[in-house]
Amino acid sequence: MRLSWSPVELVSRLARRGITYNFASGAPDVTVLPIDEVRRSFENVYEKYGTLILAYPGAGGLKELRIELAKYLSRVLGIRASWRDIIVTAGAQHAIKLLSQLMIRRGTVIYTENPTFVETVAPMRFQGARLIGVPMDDEGMITQELESLVRKHGPGIIYTIPNCHNPTGVSLSRDRRKHLLEIAEKYNLKIIEDDPYTSLYLNTQPSLKSVNDDVIYVGTLSKVLGPGFRIGFVVVGGALRNNLEKLEQHDFASSTLTQYLVYDLLRRGVAERVIDEARGLYSRKLGELVDSLNHYLPGSLMFNPSCGFYAFISTKINAWHLLRKCTKAGIAFVPGDKFYVSDGRLDTARLSIGSIRIDLIRDGIRTLSNVIRTMSTNIT
Ligand SMILES: Cc1ncc(COP(=O)(O)O)c(C=O)c1O
Repeated sequence: MRLSWSPVELVSRLARRGITYNFASGAPDVTVLPIDEVRRSFENVYEKYGTLILAYPGAGGLKELRIELAKYLSRVLGIRASWRDIIVTAGAQHAIKLLSQLMIRRGTVIYTENPTFVETVAPMRFQGARLIGVPMDDEGMITQELESLVRKHGPGIIYTIPNCHNPTGVSLSRDRRKHLLEIAEKYNLKIIEDDPYTSLYLNTQPSLKSVNDDVIYVGTLSKVLGPGFRIGFVVVGGALRNNLEKLEQHDFASSTLTQYLVYDLLRRGVAERVIDEARGLYSRKLGELVDSLNHYLPGSLMFNPSCGFYAFISTKINAWHLLRKCTKAGIAFVPGDKFYVSDGRLDTARLSIGSIRIDLIRDGIRTLSNVIRTMSTNIT
């Protein structure tokens, strides 16, 4: 098995060196992360639990945290789940790795949006999955195409990011959600729903899980409380829940300390206070990105982003060559080719509004457009 670095990791390394306009990082905006509340939670759990916070984690996660997660899911995302059906993992990435280990064997077919999030499909590939990319448009995955592909390639699993998609920013329309669930039922396909961004935006579509309990839901607190906690979770029932709980013991990866901290932050309503503040900020940032692209790089947006951290653009020229020039001008982004599971396009890029300051977005896009113009002139 040949392992390679994710393009997000490669560019993040670049972005640590002298980058002013960081459109590469999918990390949340540090100005809304609750650092002082974390300190208070640390004091709370230290006082209340003492050395228990340094114990080995139990299988499936801390019961107190799972109960708080069940309340959070119901209040914020309209998902009703028993705490027993919530398995805590070390982030959504770990959740998907564990699900891949349980559900994927060599040749297992995975249907997914094309492009999709390069990092979550990596553990699927590692297990030997055969990834089938389903084309997308502004309404998300084209479910008619999905159905034809399922007829052609047969049974498998659907891995989808229906809301605030990474890397395109689109959300699956209401009709297509219905169709997707019908396809899953008709052809007996399991759905894995990956949903890191919905809570950060108002007026999003309800998750697939909230309308159909057979969906395997992967969530995370990385974008709300901070990715450093490494706290994500899977909502799933039945035999898969039992196996996931057992498999989760194999690596003891979910830190007891951060589970206690996140439990206390949820209990005190901190996550919801962050969400209230972050919702305004992220929609203003995404609006600023879209406006700036329409102004300085008209026609570059390949999809119309509705929520989340990302926009996916056509750069017209090789995005890796462009990135080399851009880093000299203080700009970082992630070239888009590796986000495709098939037919990757080298002239594409993912731009993120996660960590860049809002007042730098317009100037960053203006600078990017200047670099693209200079390079295009030199090519012609
Ligand atoms: C769609 C998607 N899934 C999963 C993840 C991983 O999240 P976590 O930090 O919880 O591992 C991300 C992070 O950017 C993401 O965008």
